[in-house]
Amino acid sequence: MTRINQLFIGLAIGAGLTAGAFAQSPATGAAPIAGPVAQSPKDWQAPDITKLPDDKYGQMVRRGKVLMEETYKYLGPEVKDVNKRYAGNNLACVSCHMDAGGRKFGNPWVGTFVSFPQYRGREDAISTTEERINGCMERSMNGRKLPLDSEEMKTMTTYLQFLSTGIPVGAKLEGGGTLRLKTLARAADPVAGKQVYAATCVACHGDNGQGVRRGKAGDANGYQFPPLWGADSYNTGAGMARVTLAAGFIKGNMPIGVTHTSTVLTDEQAFDVSAYINSQPRPVKGNLQADFPARKNKPVDAAFPPYTPGVSAEQHKYGPWQPIVEAREKGAIPPK
Ligand code: HEC
Ligand code: HEC
Repeated sequence: MTRINQLFIGLAIGAGLTAGAFAQSPATGAAPIAGPVAQSPKDWQAPDITKLPDDKYGQMVRRGKVLMEETYKYLGPEVKDVNKRYAGNNLACVSCHMDAGGRKFGNPWVGTFVSFPQYRGREDAISTTEERINGCMERSMNGRKLPLDSEEMKTMTTYLQFLSTGIPVGAKLEGGGTLRLKTLARAADPVAGKQVYAATCVACHGDNGQGVRRGKAGDANGYQFPPLWGADSYNTGAGMARVTLAAGFIKGNMPIGVTHTSTVLTDEQAFDVSAYINSQPRPVKGNLQADFPARKNKPVDAAFPPYTPGVSAEQHKYGPWQPIVEAREKGAIPPK
């Protein structure tokens, strides 16, 4: 076994223990959420898929989970059936949605299904669960939309619905998305981030951010350690391409084995390494100026035009962001 494998397994076991201890922790006093499975907005956990019967519904949920865990094998650019090549890279949904969507601050999917349809600032419209999945297909997976009535879309949506078992529509759960770190007073620094990368990330993600394949290029077996930049990574329109979002994800989930309760990076290191990763080349999403048509919704770290009047592309990307927030409050909104 390679050293990396040992490290990986050791850390993964550590993470498993953390999750187990969490599951047994006593109720925290937050009001329970009514439903067939008692859930608390603080101490929720993913429902147990092994308890599902082997009927049509159970089979669909399980297939959805597999599709999200091994996306590259079914929808990736290397699958035999060219018509199924919906994803443009060999990532899996769970490359970024940790523990198959069950982890707090690891882009969880518990509660997602019951939060849609939802107003989305990126579209300035009400979006459905399916449209949100396609958002990640076109950006994080650098691919194209799955047809709404496709088997794959149905299985993924059914898995998401299962993950919200017992949670009422509109419930607000703690730990959604990723850690929201307090932004730095200075710009995030890709040069300092390169040092963090060399010390903490390179062993798994590689010298050129290329990751480590599970098999060979062309075999549709995806990655043991996914790429962080380059042709097989997420594109410039992805959430992970925003330095603040990636910093929160990294702090709460990387190096693999850490969770939001056992972080190892400082906030500064998380911002800097996020800046480093996102300063590297990656697929470019076209027509990004169509995002956030209501310009006031545009996140201050969305690093594509149109920009806030008087603020450089560079500052949008790396910060400092607080002055942009203040300029926005005074009415400096990106033009149409
Ligand atoms: C490169 C990382 C990455 C990959 C790969 C990825 N996602 Fe995401 N996904 C994100 C991030 C980051 C967010 C939150 C983004 C935001 O707030 O703008 C998100 C949000 C979502 C949401 C909304 C969650 C909620 O509660 O609002 C859904 C649903 C989703 N992704 C599904 C998928 C599916 C299905 C796949 C695979 C086909 C996938 N994602 C692949 C990074 C990723
Ligand atoms: C021990 C191996 C390991 C180390 C070290 C590690 N990662 Fe990861 N990383 C992974 C794995 C594995 C995944 C995919 C998640 C999964 O499969 O659960 C991942 C996923 C990611 C992702 C989202 C997926 C993608 O391809 O974009 C980012 C971003 C990331 N890591 C950044 C980092 C950064 C930054 C560091 C250093 C601070 C780091 N990782 C250290 C193993 C590692």
